[in-house]
Amino acid sequence: MARLVAAFVAAVPRLRFDFHLASLKGLFPQLRRASILAAWSGAEPRLAHASDLSTNPAPNLLTQLVTFFDDFAPHYDEWAHGFHRKAAERLVALAHPTPGEHALDVGCGTGLVTRALAHNVGRRGSVVGVDVTPGMLEVARQKTPANVQYLYMPGERLIFRDAAFDLVTMGLALAYFVDARAALAEAHRVLRSGGRLAVSCQRRALATDAQEEFFEILDRMRVDHPFMRLPRHDDERGSLGEPEVLTRQLYEVGFDEVKIATMVTGGRPKNAHEWVELMKGAGPLPYSLLSTMGPASRRRLEGELDEVMGRLDEDAFRFHIAVTFALGYRD
Ligand SMILES: C[S@@+](CC[C@H](N)C(=O)[O-])C[C@H]1O[C@@H](n2cnc3c(N)ncnc32)[C@H](O)[C@@H]1O
Repeated sequence: MARLVAAFVAAVPRLRFDFHLASLKGLFPQLRRASILAAWSGAEPRLAHASDLSTNPAPNLLTQLVTFFDDFAPHYDEWAHGFHRKAAERLVALAHPTPGEHALDVGCGTGLVTRALAHNVGRRGSVVGVDVTPGMLEVARQKTPANVQYLYMPGERLIFRDAAFDLVTMGLALAYFVDARAALAEAHRVLRSGGRLAVSCQRRALATDAQEEFFEILDRMRVDHPFMRLPRHDDERGSLGEPEVLTRQLYEVGFDEVKIATMVTGGRPKNAHEWVELMKGAGPLPYSLLSTMGPASRRRLEGELDEVMGRLDEDAFRFHIAVTFALGYRD
């Protein structure tokens, strides 16, 4: 631990933020796992050991993703007044699984969609849930219905045969994939003729002014971070949940007759503290920044937020979470 602290101090002469080293320490076992995961994605494996930190402190996007979902898994189902539950229910209603069908749930997470599918397809049907975050799969496996199998597998490289499934679902996972297009193409390949894909994706363009302001502050923190170079996804990925973009993506990999639905939910935390706690669950980047922040940095951030939100009057601390749902058929 002393060597680690010395490495930080040597690499960063002027720390502008204080961070909990204890929370950083918690990242390391997952960084090793993420470097293994990176092998399949073609991404450069980084930070296999804590001792790498002084020379190469930048975790890649996959590292951030797995760390976030691993840590967040126990809170996932209840986050933001059960937003994930509501989105899962809507996706399954749109997919309309029927008794006896065989379904695949890609990026199954804690199994919210998987379990609802399992209920609908019944004992004659089956559901396979795949995901790359061990912590999410662990939560999912705590309640595994008899007709469900959970497997550790990337959506971009499915091991299933062509035309193996009647239905594929991807609940709120598309924007996190290393290669979203490859995952959609794989879904198309494993569906039988006449089968369908149901996808949901957050629609970022409907964010409120309060969210816009907050994410601008976060991005400044990311860029100015004293000892971590935190990567972020490109803007194109942020537009995947726009109805016309999602529709085009489905058509481009061969789906037909794409139907679109939307859902908007939201809320209004009481103050800056509650807002920051909520936003830790908003994704891998906010989580990396907010969960490693020490008390002084946190006070500064909350102070800045109070000031910014004060200018938004009744829109202060208001947030929206909008979701686009798409259902596409395979020829
Ligand atoms: C927001 S959660 C969605 C969980 C669930 N589908 C739901 O609707 O609640 C996104 C999930 O996608 C998974 N994921 C990210 N990239 C993946 C990939 N390349 N292959 C499979 N799963 C992936 C994450 O590990 C995470 O569990």
